[in-house]
Amino acid sequence: MGRGWAPLCSCCWWLWLWLWGAPWAVVRGSEDIVVGCGGFVKSDVEINYSLIEIKLYTKHGTLKYQTDCAPNNGYFMIPLYDKGDFVLKIEPPLGWSFDPTSVDIHVDGINDICTKGGDINFVFTGFSVNGKVLSKGQTLGPAGVLVSLRNPGSEVNIQATVTQPGGKYAFFKVLPGEYEIFASHPTWMLKKTSTTVRVTSSNAYASGPLVVAGYNVSGSVRSDGEPMKGVMFLLFSSSVTKEVLVLRAAL
Ligand SMILES: *[C@@H]1O[C@H](CO)[C@@H](O)[C@H](O)[C@H]1NC(C)=O
Ligand SMILES: *[C@@H]1O[C@H](CO)[C@@H](O)[C@H](O)[C@H]1NC(C)=O
Repeated sequence: MGRGWAPLCSCCWWLWLWLWGAPWAVVRGSEDIVVGCGGFVKSDVEINYSLIEIKLYTKHGTLKYQTDCAPNNGYFMIPLYDKGDFVLKIEPPLGWSFDPTSVDIHVDGINDICTKGGDINFVFTGFSVNGKVLSKGQTLGPAGVLVSLRNPGSEVNIQATVTQPGGKYAFFKVLPGEYEIFASHPTWMLKKTSTTVRVTSSNAYASGPLVVAGYNVSGSVRSDGEPMKGVMFLLFSSSVTKEVLVLRAAL
């Protein structure tokens, strides 16, 4: 079933069901039934319902049916012709969160939510916010930097996470609004510790990268296997100019 056909098909489906002469279920035999599993994708904030798919799988993971939701109100309806165990899943764009993300349905033709005409609803819980912590002068950054999301002016973390290798971080379940993002590390010094993000009606990116100013460089000097004292070091760089990093005599 192609995109955009869901509302029309829901109508055909209902007409067809009505012609069969029963409001919710028609029992054709002991195992064959006709029920509709329907409900709504719900959201308090504006989201594009057309981008969301609802899929019905058997409990073994075979896709049985898929449909879009109605663009205006998030309504969906999936026809079912067999009894048995199924899983209804919401498949939204990457980074969009819903609660629940899937619902197990045991269709017995008598007492299940589909046969009884109940709604199965999926509630939107937020978008994702993505960003990066970089090493100064580089296009990549380190793993392990603590990054937190806060309301503007607040010191309370709404969420916290750590960067992945390369410096990427992501927050999920973020509702539309303005936020501040802070980075910190127990030992590394940061050159840029905060940025902002504005979430509206889709996933959002932090307005700028956070930057680690530098890292410790350490090593040891040995002479005949014995640690040596009092050796002076100079640190040169072919890419970093001017700023003298740290000079320290080895202990
Ligand atoms: C929703 O998504 C569909 C499919 O990508 C697109 O055609 C439509 O313009 C979008 N609607 C809004 C309001 O952004
Ligand atoms: C870096 O150096 C500082 C100061 O000597 C030290 O406290 C810190 O543990 C070092 N960090 C790492 C990651 O080695």
